[in-house]
Amino acid sequence: MRVSVIGCGYLGAVHAAAMAELGHDVVGIDVDERKVAALTRGEAPFFEPGLPELLTAHVESGRLRFSTRMEDAAGSRIHFVAVGTPQSKTGNQADMTYVDGAIASLLPHTTAGEIIVGKSTVPVGSASRLAAVVAESGSGALLAWNPEFLREGWAVKDSLAPDRLVFGLPPEPEQAEVAESALREAYGPVLDLGTPLVVTDFATAELVKVAANAFLATKISFINAMAEIAEVTGADVTQLADAIGHDERIGRRFLGAGVGFGGGCLPKDIRAFTARAEELGRGESVAFLKEIDAINLRRRQRVVDHVVELLDDQPHGKTVAVLGLAFKPHSDDVRDSPALDVAVRLKGLGAHVRATDPEAIANSRALHPQLDYRESLEETLDGADVVVLVTEWDEYRYLDPAHVAGLVAGRRIVDARNSYDPQSWRAAGWTYRGLGRR
Ligand code: UDX
Repeated sequence: MRVSVIGCGYLGAVHAAAMAELGHDVVGIDVDERKVAALTRGEAPFFEPGLPELLTAHVESGRLRFSTRMEDAAGSRIHFVAVGTPQSKTGNQADMTYVDGAIASLLPHTTAGEIIVGKSTVPVGSASRLAAVVAESGSGALLAWNPEFLREGWAVKDSLAPDRLVFGLPPEPEQAEVAESALREAYGPVLDLGTPLVVTDFATAELVKVAANAFLATKISFINAMAEIAEVTGADVTQLADAIGHDERIGRRFLGAGVGFGGGCLPKDIRAFTARAEELGRGESVAFLKEIDAINLRRRQRVVDHVVELLDDQPHGKTVAVLGLAFKPHSDDVRDSPALDVAVRLKGLGAHVRATDPEAIANSRALHPQLDYRESLEETLDGADVVVLVTEWDEYRYLDPAHVAGLVAGRRIVDARNSYDPQSWRAAGWTYRGLGRR
């Protein structure tokens, strides 16, 4: 099948490569010439495990090309729209400029029988509104909504073997049938794996995505709220999470208490959901998400407070080694990264912040050139007065406390991801602080 993917960011580039892997003839379109040039060379413009191999294989096989010209999307049976919906600069709502713009510039190159498939995370109601735009254009194309659930760092696996697929189809039965059969064909090999499929309407498809992210954010903030209670009662939140996680109805995943969630999805999606619910007159239904956001942001300050306390309230001029900058391991993404935020807050208190990350230094430096970035872990730790683990990359999780003790000036560590065994650090002479841990 000929397929186009409009927008080649964290979502679109992986989706385009995955569609080629599934056997389709794919063109990826993006306005960014440098990104298109890199992708055309088979290079991933960002860090995503497995993506470079997939790109190289299919650029070479001829099934995958990239272009800056929208007219190159012409002739595709499906046009996936995978552009970003960042938080608006003026409020909490999603900025729909890129989705609206992509569809408007795609429409003149579409014709009857083709399907425009939205993948971007949008406020509920957007697909109906855009379906009217598509109908009014007279192009004859149809609109469907197929939200994406991929996690950065696992995006290739999540695209080729997702937990589920969701098809949001137009209300008219004939149009729904055309759209569903095209989508079934596009995802044929994925469906053959036995992947669960939910076929539904536009509103449900849009809501599934934001509801999933709201649930995940709630789970993380729930355990972080328990960490706050643990801190004033002497309880241990990691043991609490293990114990409640054994209950299959609860489950242990996403009960990792620490510095909280970040990234390009969870924070902005819960804010956009709240804003949309308020527009719909149902603000109270998701008002709890404001609390989820507030708990999450409080944890960053808690980490900073721990560092300051370990420095006897004198952070000025002290050297802080910050391990990790990306919003989570296996990613170079620093959008709304708790780690980078903590580093910047400590710098603001006059500390000398030396920060490292296996993949995210370039992106961090572009946003915050004031920090002292070091490629090498040993250099970062050298002579540090306090160490903060903020992104739990394997490179940092398995550090030997005795070895690190020989590098630093002060054996003080804040484990903002509860990744270490406190006993082994304390046994090596460290003052250890986790979040919500004894
Ligand atoms: C998320 C959703 O998981 C994905 O389905 C959706 O398509 C996009 O948003 P992603 O942003 O890549 O994916 O990250 P995810 O793995 O969900 O982690 C989000 C944040 O939560 C990270 O900052 C992570 O460190 C944090 N987290 C996760 C915790 O603080 N504790 C946990 O137990 C789990």
